[in-house]
Amino acid sequence: MQAAVVKPISWKDHLVEKLQNRSAKVGVMGLGYVGLPLALELAKAGFSVTGFDLQTSKIDQINAGKSYVSDVAQSEMEQLVKQKKLMATSDFSAIAKLDTVNICVPTPLRKTKDPDMSYIVSACQEIARYFHPGMLIILESTTYPGTTEEVVLPLLANNGLRAGKDFFLCFSPERIDPGNPSFQTRNIPRVVGGITTECTKIGALFYSQALETVVPVSSTQVAEMVKLLENTFRMINIGLVNEMAMMCDRMGINVWEVIEAAASKPFGFMPFYPGPGLGGHCIPVDPFYLSWKTRQAGIEARFIELAGYINGQMPHFVVEKIQNALNARGKPLKGSHIHILGVAYKRDIDDVRESPALDIIHLLQNRGARVTFTDPYVSFISVNGSKLASSKLNGVIQECDCAVIITDHSNVNYEKVLRKAAVVVDTRNALRAVHSPKVIRL
Ligand SMILES: NC(=O)c1ccc[n+]([C@@H]2O[C@H](COP(=O)([O-])OP(=O)(O)OC[C@H]3O[C@@H](n4cnc5c(N)ncnc54)[C@H](O)[C@@H]3O)[C@@H](O)[C@H]2O)c1
Repeated sequence: MQAAVVKPISWKDHLVEKLQNRSAKVGVMGLGYVGLPLALELAKAGFSVTGFDLQTSKIDQINAGKSYVSDVAQSEMEQLVKQKKLMATSDFSAIAKLDTVNICVPTPLRKTKDPDMSYIVSACQEIARYFHPGMLIILESTTYPGTTEEVVLPLLANNGLRAGKDFFLCFSPERIDPGNPSFQTRNIPRVVGGITTECTKIGALFYSQALETVVPVSSTQVAEMVKLLENTFRMINIGLVNEMAMMCDRMGINVWEVIEAAASKPFGFMPFYPGPGLGGHCIPVDPFYLSWKTRQAGIEARFIELAGYINGQMPHFVVEKIQNALNARGKPLKGSHIHILGVAYKRDIDDVRESPALDIIHLLQNRGARVTFTDPYVSFISVNGSKLASSKLNGVIQECDCAVIITDHSNVNYEKVLRKAAVVVDTRNALRAVHSPKVIRL
């Protein structure tokens, strides 16, 4: 009798089985606002998760079961670390034992507004040192279209391994909105595109083990572009509404009332709100990844440049408002005490990256004002090389010449602030319900 021919199990089948029975060992590189919540969801789904970071303070906190990201619940962290489902290290040799790695490292801009790929490159170089057949690698960092194929793939495939057969490579944009109580890593639909169809299938299978909805797309470039469309859409609409705010100001019209009324239209309009300027690691940065790439293709991203210019004017516009508010009370800005309420880039979070508050404080100091701040989430900031500590609100608010609401954290009583302050410049419409000559709105 002829012996049955046993088909050797492929790398793909092997990985599919491990993903489906959650025995796959998974890794997350970069344990910040994106990486830590992802690591937690993967651990909650039953995977054994190893997190990697260069900052030993983060590694120590994770291994002690401590959360340093406000969207990650302390109790869940503690439990998963105790169950040995989640651990962190800076020893990249642990990659050798992993089946998957998600890359969640920063993608800032250089001073010239060119993409800084150095974090992605160094993360991939570490992976390449311990890379082995059967692995799934997913880049999540926001980047320009083409990065996964042009930058990541050559670093991984230089040993003859074939994408889609011997290993799997995808791009999947992280879309979290820190501080959003309704949408978090688990229930935000997850877009994923692979270098090959097999890569997409494996990437989609991976995420579907831990997240609610997966949206596969045909390529890594499409997945990269999805994120840039989303963030460019936001940046441009904010630019439009900021320009509206400046126009309305000139014409003595309340822009907030205009937007609220326009938002009553049940179709064809989506409200965006003006503010003191763009902040965070995403909206002020990501569109410039796109404009950098399109410039190489000979296309100027004119909407992005224009919105970038208008949004960049907002801190100056706010300073002008403060100056006018003081002048109306017979005070010059020079020598006045300005108290800033909220320095995080948005409500109810502790992140000050690219926060317009930092620019506004710098501009005020340059014009000779004395600036203090209060933020329930931020203890210290650094402005132009000097450190400022958050003050207690009680006391300072009566003393200052002008209070300025830059970030409208929801745990501050703004009407109480208004009662005690001489004048309040409100850049977020936090005092929408109040009609008082002491309130100067954006
Ligand atoms: N923060 C957000 O709201 C958000 C939302 C969507 C997408 N993103 C994107 O996700 C990416 C990460 O953003 P983030 O906010 O989590 O950044 P972050 O700065 O909070 O975290 C990144 C972490 O990566 C670590 N790191 C840097 N180089 C490393 C390396 N070679 N190996 C291992 N760790 C390394 C850093 O020490 C840091 O802890 C960025 O591309 C960002 O644009 C961020």
